[in-house]
Amino acid sequence: MLKPLLATLLAAAVATAAVAAPADAGNPQHAHLQGAALLHQREQMSFGVYYYPKQWPEAQWQRDFDGMAKLGFDFTHMAEFSWTYLEPKEGQYDFTWLDHAIALAHAAGLRVILGTPSAAVPSWMGQRYPQVYRVDEHGQRHEHGIRAEVSLTDPTYKAFVAKIVTAMAQRYGHDPRVWGWQIDNEPSTFPDFSDSARKAFQDWLRKKYGTVDAMNAVWAGSFWSTRYGSFDEVLLPNTTLAAEDKLSPHAVLDLARFRADTQAQFLDDQADIIHKYAGHRQWVTTDYTNVSTDTDPRRTRDLDFPTFTLYPVAGTNVLGGDSYAVGKPANLMEAAAYFRPVNGTFGVMELQPGQVNWASINPQPMPGAISMWMWHAFASGASLLATYRYRHPLRGSEMYHEGIVGTDGVTLSRTGREFTDTLRDIKAFEGKLDPSAKLPERLAARYTGYLWNQDVFWDLEIQPQTTLWNTWAYRNGYTLAVQTTGAPMDFIAEDSDFSRYPFLIAPAYQMVSPALAAKWKRYVEQGGHLILTSRTGQKNELGQFPEGPWYAPILDLIGDDVDGFDMLPPSVDAEVKASGKTHAWHRWADILTPRPGTEVLATYADHYYAGKAAATTRKLGKGTVTMIGVSTDDGELERAIVRGVYQNAGVPIEDLPAGVFHDWRGGYDFMVSYNPRPFDLQLPASAHVVDGQVPLAPAGVLIWKEGTK
Ligand code: GAL
Repeated sequence: MLKPLLATLLAAAVATAAVAAPADAGNPQHAHLQGAALLHQREQMSFGVYYYPKQWPEAQWQRDFDGMAKLGFDFTHMAEFSWTYLEPKEGQYDFTWLDHAIALAHAAGLRVILGTPSAAVPSWMGQRYPQVYRVDEHGQRHEHGIRAEVSLTDPTYKAFVAKIVTAMAQRYGHDPRVWGWQIDNEPSTFPDFSDSARKAFQDWLRKKYGTVDAMNAVWAGSFWSTRYGSFDEVLLPNTTLAAEDKLSPHAVLDLARFRADTQAQFLDDQADIIHKYAGHRQWVTTDYTNVSTDTDPRRTRDLDFPTFTLYPVAGTNVLGGDSYAVGKPANLMEAAAYFRPVNGTFGVMELQPGQVNWASINPQPMPGAISMWMWHAFASGASLLATYRYRHPLRGSEMYHEGIVGTDGVTLSRTGREFTDTLRDIKAFEGKLDPSAKLPERLAARYTGYLWNQDVFWDLEIQPQTTLWNTWAYRNGYTLAVQTTGAPMDFIAEDSDFSRYPFLIAPAYQMVSPALAAKWKRYVEQGGHLILTSRTGQKNELGQFPEGPWYAPILDLIGDDVDGFDMLPPSVDAEVKASGKTHAWHRWADILTPRPGTEVLATYADHYYAGKAAATTRKLGKGTVTMIGVSTDDGELERAIVRGVYQNAGVPIEDLPAGVFHDWRGGYDFMVSYNPRPFDLQLPASAHVVDGQVPLAPAGVLIWKEGTK
């Protein structure tokens, strides 16, 4: 009975989400993801703010909740670090203070998101059960006083978590004042070398491989006496003791997978408890740390949708000039592209409210930057946006962290004013959205899938082969190449439906199974345009080289043979030539020999492979395959080739500067800028500007509608 309704709600959500994100909700892996629909009962973005009642005199709580509501916030977020108050003594729970806070928040007109407190354990627990803390890579057991230092494999810790979450879910799972739940806080997988972690890893391997000989075969224990006689002998590979290639890379990859699986299971275990008591009256999420390298939202089964945290201004200056104060340009764009396709619904659970305390340098965000991030989140399709925190702390940890109100507890900070002014502006605007609007053909025609998964990331990081290799930077280069075309883009997984995307890019997708190679071939034959780049297909899905020629899994697809690959010291001159231009390279060079019918796009200019191909393209069935084997120093050649793929397919693209992003939601086009220089864009004649100005200033927002005057 419920299903058609949920399907309708989700469909409506997907239609209005930015660029109409094709969700993988059909993926059986996410069959449980029902609560997402609860977020879409209205076509609006909900705004919230974090609050720590126990940090403030109880007499001020009502004033503070009233203040939030008056400013336009819809919800408050509480309790994620409050275990010491919820269970002050082992087994003795105290919910009176939280009952009171929820009642006051409700009286003020706010909904409540409750955090489960697993990220900060009370001191009595560590005192009595030190095994709840992780053991780091140097063998040191961590201890009370900082958060998130727990061992996710320790049965004692897990039992305490299950009990407190059960107690909370029993008490609040039916409470209509509670809107949803956040599990833990910024889940991550700090290295844990405890006995329980070792035992859990052995169990994980036993389940994965069945027999120890099967594991030995994959880990290649035939070399250096690294084979094991039984799973009980297996150690946790410690990369701080043995650097690259002194450990089996396959063992290190399995450890990364095990950690991510353990993290996902930890979240699912808590989600299951909440759903047991709350059913699907309340939704369950967690606040991932932006796009992190050690967690994997696609490994969870029971969260309703993902959210993430976002702190763009933290001292780095990616685009130079004043861009340090506008924020890291790729953060929000990448996170939205990464989390949105998981099931079509996502939120920003923590948005930087102003100056933070934890960066190496903590500058003020530029006036306008916070507003721009909020519009960017809205344009990207976020359903929920919370800011971290309402009040500026007066003492204790994070006391230099700005809040929406300042140190007097009532006066808006400069950035708090900007945040709350903007939330009201967005609320005033969102009624204009057309829930039935479909992504226009001009954007749908260039919709791009970016194939990526964490296993590939880990595998690249385990064996970079050159200190010039930086997987993040490499990935960002291609993200930029796609984004500057103005193409809507989703990070997708191997089990995603590729046919939704006219263009598909798989940069440095090192591990390729025969099934993936076959899926790519079908995609191209049916008219898709596939772009593969350096290292893609070098290994099979086990992370091993196939017994055959280099890049065996993809040779028939790219229409090349691969002679080998090179990488150079920075002091050596090396160039690649394309369309009359030369480009310096050092990082990576796949040396290609095109087969008949394959066209050369770039050639190496020097070294013993001078004249060999560095990039090629070919037609296959109704589509094309392009292989960019070289990684140039500035990425300009790669960007030009990527642009050429759209152009050769007859699809119009834009030429946006770095850090300028184009989104679409509910019938409107949005452009935001993290670039330090004004951008004088040419709007089409049919565009009607609704808000903002051309040229688009740094931290500027432009909203327009096409086809109406
Ligand atoms: C986040 C974290 C919050 C708080 C915040 C401060 O990463 O989840 O608990 O520490 O940073 O900026």
